[in-house]
Amino acid sequence: MTRRDAVVSSALAASLFGLPANAAAGKLAPIPKPELHASDPEAFWKKVRDHQFLLPPWRSFLNNGSLGIAPRPVVAHVSDYLARYAALDVTEYPRWGYETMDAQRETLAAFVGCRKDELALLHNATEGLSLVANGIDLNPGDEVVMTSLEHPSGKAGWAMRAKRHGITVREVAMPSVPANPGELAGLMTSAIGPRTRVLFFSGIFSPTGWIMPVREICDFARSRGVITVVDGAHMHGQIPVKISHLNCDYFTGSPHKWMFAPAGCGFLYIREENLDRLWPLTVTGDWDNRDMKAGRFMRLGTNNRAIMEGLIAGMKFGEQIGWDRIYARIHQLARRVLERARDLPGILDLATPGDDRMFGALTTIRFRKDPARFWEETRKRKIWTLEGPQVRISTHIHTRPQDIDQYFDLMRKVLG
Ligand SMILES: Cc1ncc(COP(=O)(O)O)c(C=O)c1O
Repeated sequence: MTRRDAVVSSALAASLFGLPANAAAGKLAPIPKPELHASDPEAFWKKVRDHQFLLPPWRSFLNNGSLGIAPRPVVAHVSDYLARYAALDVTEYPRWGYETMDAQRETLAAFVGCRKDELALLHNATEGLSLVANGIDLNPGDEVVMTSLEHPSGKAGWAMRAKRHGITVREVAMPSVPANPGELAGLMTSAIGPRTRVLFFSGIFSPTGWIMPVREICDFARSRGVITVVDGAHMHGQIPVKISHLNCDYFTGSPHKWMFAPAGCGFLYIREENLDRLWPLTVTGDWDNRDMKAGRFMRLGTNNRAIMEGLIAGMKFGEQIGWDRIYARIHQLARRVLERARDLPGILDLATPGDDRMFGALTTIRFRKDPARFWEETRKRKIWTLEGPQVRISTHIHTRPQDIDQYFDLMRKVLG
């Protein structure tokens, strides 16, 4: 084996067999065994945090909801692919943007729950949302109904259509804290009016982490002939979800948040019957080649294929840990956040309902007191968190129970 071959195969071997290896990713260790999870789950998760991530022990990271971090095997795959690319030790052009990426789309489609031909690889949820908002035929006066809690990346495309093409956009006010999923569904479905053409909403809200009853809303919208567009940026990897079970028309995702992918890869689901109706946004040759199905929407020009290899490696990493174990762990940590937050009634209010159906791994608190001094202290202690009068706390598998305890102990000390 030449030296180059050794470098090239090192990260792949490492992630598959737990061998030490990659310059960028550091020492790669095997994923801890399920037996350890069964006998001592805290020891299992400590090993995952200590050995599978590059996070130093002094860093407490409570905001992967904005931008997730890739574990070591993913970093290894990305850097490995870049090395192979530089050596041209590949058989196809080492890029995406003109390729159909069938193998990668098959793998992603199996995880997100749709067919490869309904799935376009993109850069992030923002790109998918812009594409859909610009690509649906709408006439002046046609109405798009959305919730009051949409992310700017979701709202902006429709706002631009309103300004440019005279469509109407209406926001439905969401409650301060919802009582149950039915309340959220009712608010959306009862907002459908005679001019409503599109319902747009997040599957999990960015500001609050509430899970929307997507299926219920989409079933109703479909019965009224209304198109549904779901911003799924926070869904896959945070909760188990299969797109084909949602009955929606369009769905976008940002796998860097919860699926262990590096930033720069996203996806758009286009339901089969919509493939010929949607206009692409960025175009090159084959933009109108209907035989390509969803593939014609990902012809974006030369792009970094290493990032897509990282996406696949992230899914594999999740599989090796066990997705069900992951969902259960990150929800358990979110529950710990709720319990700790409930102990501080004079300092904050909870925006997360206690109903387990309504949150995954995102919890939200609202401060009753000015939190400025608390933010100063969190920064000093290298706690990476959102700041503001309302704060969303993200718990992923690299979150340690003591990160949560430290956060609330500090809050009590500073604001109590
Ligand atoms: C609900 C929601 N939609 C869309 C986005 C945009 O995601 P990205 O920046 O990965 O495109 C975010 C980002 O936080 C989000 O929370």
